[in-house]
Amino acid sequence: MSDKTPILELQNVDKSFGPIDVLHNISLKVRAGEVLCLLGDNGAGKSTLIKTLAGVHKPTRGTILMDGQPVEFSGPRDAQEKGISTVHQFGGTFPLMSIGRSFFVGVEPTKGWGPFKVYDRKTANEIAVKAVQDFGITRIDDGDRLVGGLSGGERQSLAIARAVHFGARVLILDEPTAALGVKQAAHVLRIVNEAKRRGLAVVFITHQVMHAMAVGDHFAVLIRGAIAADFRRGEKTREEITDLMAGGETMADLEAQIETYMASHEGHPPPPAQ
Ligand SMILES: Nc1ncnc2c1ncn2[C@@H]1O[C@H](COP(=O)(O)OP(=O)(O)OP(=O)(O)O)[C@@H](O)[C@H]1O
Ligand SMILES: [Mg+2]
Repeated sequence: MSDKTPILELQNVDKSFGPIDVLHNISLKVRAGEVLCLLGDNGAGKSTLIKTLAGVHKPTRGTILMDGQPVEFSGPRDAQEKGISTVHQFGGTFPLMSIGRSFFVGVEPTKGWGPFKVYDRKTANEIAVKAVQDFGITRIDDGDRLVGGLSGGERQSLAIARAVHFGARVLILDEPTAALGVKQAAHVLRIVNEAKRRGLAVVFITHQVMHAMAVGDHFAVLIRGAIAADFRRGEKTREEITDLMAGGETMADLEAQIETYMASHEGHPPPPAQ
């Protein structure tokens, strides 16, 4: 697998917003049938990095390659047309729409001709329900149900099935499990594995090391906008990854700091870091 040309690659990418340098010399490869986990603490630059991959931001320096050829995305739509699809934390679907309608929003199938063209609800529902069921979500069997009535995990799954149906080759998932309970998260992780089995390249952004370890083939840890570590499945333990994400401070050190704080503050834990 590793000798294949990556679908998407970043070479020495920097991104600045005016005087603020956010990404420094990022080089990454995203391959078909692999999950790349992007780990990093708040503010590390994860969202900026995926927005650069998805055509929202243009790199200040460096090159993006698709299938080995340099590309420039004119915007997110251009990146999407080239096969890069981003699914956000809450699925990005429309709560007040039916499953069928939300699946086809903007590209609704129609029946009839010319001025008599109407939205073909039956076809839309059939295609949407089949696409979702093919991902193993058999509980969704009625395309008329509202998206707002689905669980968080089901919504994520619907958004992923939709991206795959419309030809995504690279699937970028921004914290897809962050707002989910254990069962729902397990469900989404299964869908990620299914997307990988179908040969998509998946970029999976998360804070949760366990979730990353459940699906990741390749891992990159971002600290203050730079890649602090880049390794493959099995090369690091959970503790090592957690310590890396904490910016080199070991969890044991952090725990000791918290205990010292609590001892001098009548047992209260420290306020969350900004
Ligand atoms: N448009 C912008 N202009 C200026 N600074 C920005 C801009 N976008 C992001 N930044 C800065 O870049 C840094 C990285 O932000 P980013 O949102 O990429 O982090 P993140 O890793 O996604 O964090 P989180 O886990 O909280 O989502 C932050 O310090 C942020 O303030
Ligand atoms: Mg972010």
